[in-house]
Amino acid sequence: MTVTTVVGAQWGDEGKGRIVDYLAQEAELVIRFQGGDNAGHTVINEYGKFALHLVPSGIFNAGTRCIVGAGTVVNLDTLLTELADLEAAGVETSQLFIDERAHLILPFHRQLDGAEERARTGDWAVGTTKRGIGPTYADKSGRHGIRVGELLDPAWLKERLEQLVLRKNRELAHFDLRPVSVDELLALCAGWREQVGGRIVDTLPLIREAVKAGRDILLEGQLGVMRGLDWGIYPFVTSSSPTAGGACVGAGIPPRAIDEVLGITKVYATSVGGGPFPTELEDETGERLRQVGGEYGATTGRPRRCGWLDGVALGYAGWINGFTGIAATKLDVLDSFEELRICVGYRLGQEVLRHVPTTRVQEQVEPIYEAWPGWLADTTDIRRWADLPGNAQRYLRRVEELAGAPLRYVSVGPEREQLIVL
Ligand code: GDP
Ligand code: IMO
Ligand code: MG
Repeated sequence: MTVTTVVGAQWGDEGKGRIVDYLAQEAELVIRFQGGDNAGHTVINEYGKFALHLVPSGIFNAGTRCIVGAGTVVNLDTLLTELADLEAAGVETSQLFIDERAHLILPFHRQLDGAEERARTGDWAVGTTKRGIGPTYADKSGRHGIRVGELLDPAWLKERLEQLVLRKNRELAHFDLRPVSVDELLALCAGWREQVGGRIVDTLPLIREAVKAGRDILLEGQLGVMRGLDWGIYPFVTSSSPTAGGACVGAGIPPRAIDEVLGITKVYATSVGGGPFPTELEDETGERLRQVGGEYGATTGRPRRCGWLDGVALGYAGWINGFTGIAATKLDVLDSFEELRICVGYRLGQEVLRHVPTTRVQEQVEPIYEAWPGWLADTTDIRRWADLPGNAQRYLRRVEELAGAPLRYVSVGPEREQLIVL
């Protein structure tokens, strides 16, 4: 009976979705606490293969209530498409609710996301997913965003939209984009009200009751700390906090109610988008990791940048989040590599750094590696720790040491059951 936060320990795409899908079999509640449909959480189970963008990865368990939490930003069109796809695959979705405090992504947010990216010159593109995430969170913190619950009150919504449209049309004009009218936004919102109105609720009473009753609750993070707004590689980051602290704020759960923080890390590293990535391999080995690991974006299809595990970044993730355990994913991807490397420090001129510096400095560092022997054996059918090759066990123990928290799960393939529980 625990409240467990599941967070990305790297630059995103660590395999959070597959771990949440597994853990949710026992959970009463699964809450997505930040981000929006920029997420691509791949789940493979008896219903098929899914890339979930907004729906929590606990949706496959009919007994689990799923919440799109207060800290998220929601594109109701993509949510509706996602729900339709799940229902077509036979998944029950009636227990999916959206917190009324979540913010609405409107069509112009996506347009502005694209326009702002195009306006970034040189190496300054963030490489966003163009889902409107940044502009929507900017409106939220600027205090002119629209909350999902405001859809339910047309008169109130109209006044709020009038305020917003005044500002947004100035911005749209700046980028030579078509202005929006309050009427067209009201019509869009009326359609959404009709289709999802019944799912928009104050989720806090449900959450509070579940916490007080000691139910199993999972908080599902999006992305990873290295692309988090405060502690990531700013400005090459998303606009919310994908950390255990962010989970409390975004879900509405007090810090002291969190029992476990599970950090998810691949046994190597990937990153999508701009910014520093010290262990990146722009050579054959990087290409091999990409091919064997199938490292292409679940949301955008972009090839992911690949490299060796960054133990410095992993230790940083452990501190920021306060991991109580870790899950190491994609072990099988390394099965055919003769020699592996783990970054254990950054060289900056004559200096050796053992911590993650700020972006400006991280751009200049060179990784310091430890070499590890590979295991050259197929691990995909292994289900017990004791059956793993010795070299794989030793490699994983080093990962655990660098993360500063005990290894709880090792995944050896993308399917739900391809998991070793320690
Ligand atoms: P998330 O965003 O953190 O949920 O991760 P993604 O779904 O974006 O990326 C993880 C990718 O790795 C997906 O394609 C998964 O199907 C796949 N995957 C997850 N765990 C494993 C594993 O243990 N082995 C292999 N080969 N693939 C895995
Ligand atoms: P999951 O949840 C990997 C990256 C983008 C870009 C930066 C900001 O599947 O791990 P945004 O659209 O959020 O404004 O983009 O963050 N990014 C992701 N990278 N996985 C994701 O989600 C991502 N969501 C955003 O590439 O660099
Ligand atoms: Mg992903």
